Amino acid sequence: MNEAVLIRGDGIGPEIADAVVSILEKAGAQIKWHEAIAGEACIERGKDPMPEEVLADISAKGLALKGPLTTPVGKGYRSANVAMRQALNLYANLRPARNLPGVESVKENVDLIIVRENTEDLYAGIEHKIGDYAAESIKLITRPASERIAEFAYRYAIAHNRKKVSAVHKANIMKLSDGLFLESVQNIGVKYPQIESDDVIVDNLCMQLVIKPHAYDVLVLPNLYGDIVSDLCAGLVGGLGVAPSGNIGENTAVFEAVHGSAPKHAGKGTANPIALLLAAVMLLEHCEQQEVAGKVKQSLYQTLQEKDSLTPDLGGQGNTKTFAQAIMHRM
Ligand code: NAI
Repeated sequence: MNEAVLIRGDGIGPEIADAVVSILEKAGAQIKWHEAIAGEACIERGKDPMPEEVLADISAKGLALKGPLTTPVGKGYRSANVAMRQALNLYANLRPARNLPGVESVKENVDLIIVRENTEDLYAGIEHKIGDYAAESIKLITRPASERIAEFAYRYAIAHNRKKVSAVHKANIMKLSDGLFLESVQNIGVKYPQIESDDVIVDNLCMQLVIKPHAYDVLVLPNLYGDIVSDLCAGLVGGLGVAPSGNIGENTAVFEAVHGSAPKHAGKGTANPIALLLAAVMLLEHCEQQEVAGKVKQSLYQTLQEKDSLTPDLGGQGNTKTFAQAIMHRM
């Protein structure tokens, strides 16, 4: 039995989390959930959106499944998601982008692994105003963090039988910061001659991914490019409703959907639970419950292929609950 923290999250979070927890239970997952509150519910109680005790709990268990948390745009409190990743040193954000059976997509046979550095770059939160007319954000790139994420990408490539790692950058313009990222990845790549290494400028990559995503395999990127490019890749395979992710550190891992709290869909019961479900599958694989993970995936794929109770974002007329029931029915 594994113990894991469960944060249901904001907006559509509680609806999709309930569906996912029921599916895992039905599949026989050996997980004891410890529910914790973060995000808007904490703000309403005058607390930090990612309270210290929640961080301590995740750190003690080493494992969490997290629903999306809302971050106000341009004002208000700092992102609880970014704070969590930094506080727990969850330095690698792993975002696979693959087609799912029966889900309409812009491209077929996409199989990309996005490895995003998760602790620094423009997300370090170092920004200030310069008088009333300007504002400055610091893009922090360090050699240790860049080498660490490169190690993760190459080790992942070897463990999962991948062929190539591409370093993504804009070192033609940001010669020092992105230059250091590129140099660090290249230094690590030399240690892994069995994996092909190359590099690509981020704007060119975006165009190439839309035209020929099959030219890429594992992508390793600084934080901001990783965030943007992984949404693009989610768009290639069916949208944000189907894209999972893992935030992984030395001893702790937090799994979540790539998407946010989608406030305009909240409370309607129609949100797609697949992204969080696939994140839960990553969690199961992480704690070596491969058999249960396989069972969940098989039932999900069958449900998708038979287009049973699909949520509206996938063109169906089902809802979160009926879709979850259709998956459980196949177990
Ligand atoms: P979003 O990902 O929440 O939603 C964008 C659009 O994608 C939605 O309007 C909806 O049409 C679609 N969508 C997303 N998830 C879906 C699902 N499960 N089922 C069906 N449709 C889905 O992005 P947005 O609107 O930019 O952000 C809303 C809030 O979420 C913001 O406060 C943002 O900061 C936060 N956020 C949190 C994340 C996290 O907790 N890791 C990640 C991204 C955003």
